[in-house]
Amino acid sequence: MTRLGIIGGGQLARMLAQAAHKLDISTLVLDPKADACAGQVSELIQAEYDDQTALNQLAEQCDVLTYDFENVPAAGLQQLAGHCPVFPGVDILAVAQDRLSEKTLFGELDIAVPEFHAINSRPDLLAALEQTGYPAVLKTRRFGYDGKGQSILRQPEDMEPAWRRFEGHPLILEQFVRYDWECSVIGVRSAEGEIAYYPLARNHHNHGILDYSHAPIPNLDAGLKATAQSYLRRILEKFDYVGVLTLELFVVNGQPYANEIAPRVHNSGHWSIDGTACSQFENHVRACCGLPLGDTRAIGESLMLNWIGDLPDSAPYLKIDGLHWHPYGKQAREGRKVGHATLTAADREVFHAQVRQLAKLHGNPELVEFVTQS
Ligand SMILES: Nc1ncnc2c1ncn2[C@@H]1O[C@H](COP(=O)(O)OP(=O)(O)O)[C@@H](O)[C@H]1O
Ligand SMILES: [Mg+2]
Repeated sequence: MTRLGIIGGGQLARMLAQAAHKLDISTLVLDPKADACAGQVSELIQAEYDDQTALNQLAEQCDVLTYDFENVPAAGLQQLAGHCPVFPGVDILAVAQDRLSEKTLFGELDIAVPEFHAINSRPDLLAALEQTGYPAVLKTRRFGYDGKGQSILRQPEDMEPAWRRFEGHPLILEQFVRYDWECSVIGVRSAEGEIAYYPLARNHHNHGILDYSHAPIPNLDAGLKATAQSYLRRILEKFDYVGVLTLELFVVNGQPYANEIAPRVHNSGHWSIDGTACSQFENHVRACCGLPLGDTRAIGESLMLNWIGDLPDSAPYLKIDGLHWHPYGKQAREGRKVGHATLTAADREVFHAQVRQLAKLHGNPELVEFVTQS
């Protein structure tokens, strides 16, 4: 029996483990927290991410390793890679850990990227702001997620407080993109070089954190789709990538601009559990374990809604036909992703009727507009 080791024990690891079990692949998760939510569905080693003894133990007990978040110390993983394959590779992980390397990579691969500047000092910041103007976005190069580690500078008075907030960290200043909408493209590559793409998802963020995603995008422009897939393919091929890769994009005047990559399964692909024959989680497991890739085509349309902070009572939601409930087994906490729900229907009219029901129950009429406008 194949055994997959997963570094990081959050909801992504939990859903990877659930997908692995369907294929009779067992999982062993490493996480510093004894109550890491993946531990409810998988065996768990409780240890820090830089505990080399624990990492070695994980590598010894598993056939292949993966990770569920970007900030795994790359050096420790590099050591393991000699003994046990690590997918996706440590090279792409190191790039994805640093917004500057990530955006430099986009440039090298001829992937359109909004203006950005490396910031190491106050004079750097002043000079960069001369170029971008206001508003601009100041971000830490490392460790940011769900909108954390970033500040929007709307006017010159915002510069000093933002500088003081982040001083001492390597930073990047980005032009503030007045995008028309946001989307993401998720693909999977096998060790043999086979590539499959999921339909693009249209994403809505609230304060930098993903709120909901709709996929496939109805009437998506064929050129935009081809460009997005080509961008993703360039990265997959450059790194001889194995597993699922996500590229987040801003769309401006119908053209996609790269925002960031995630070398892993992604929140904007959760709809694929219910909305495709083979979810992003299953395909990631398949790719890592050397199995053939599965069908990424959508079954009708899906809307995925995140539960952030706390999980509502499921009963009223479960009355909606086509609704799938995915709690993560996490304690409620402000700003924390604690679960998601996905609506999936093969028929467009039925889907819209279900979205109206969900929007009413959730008190969010924008959901209806979101799925009907595209
Ligand atoms: N330069 C930018 N211009 C406009 N909006 C941005 C910019 N950078 C980030 N955002 C908004 O914040 C969200 C989160 O930022 P992102 O760079 O993806 O960081 P992370 O997801 O790692 O927290 C984006 O999806 C987008 O909605
Ligand atoms: Mg993001």
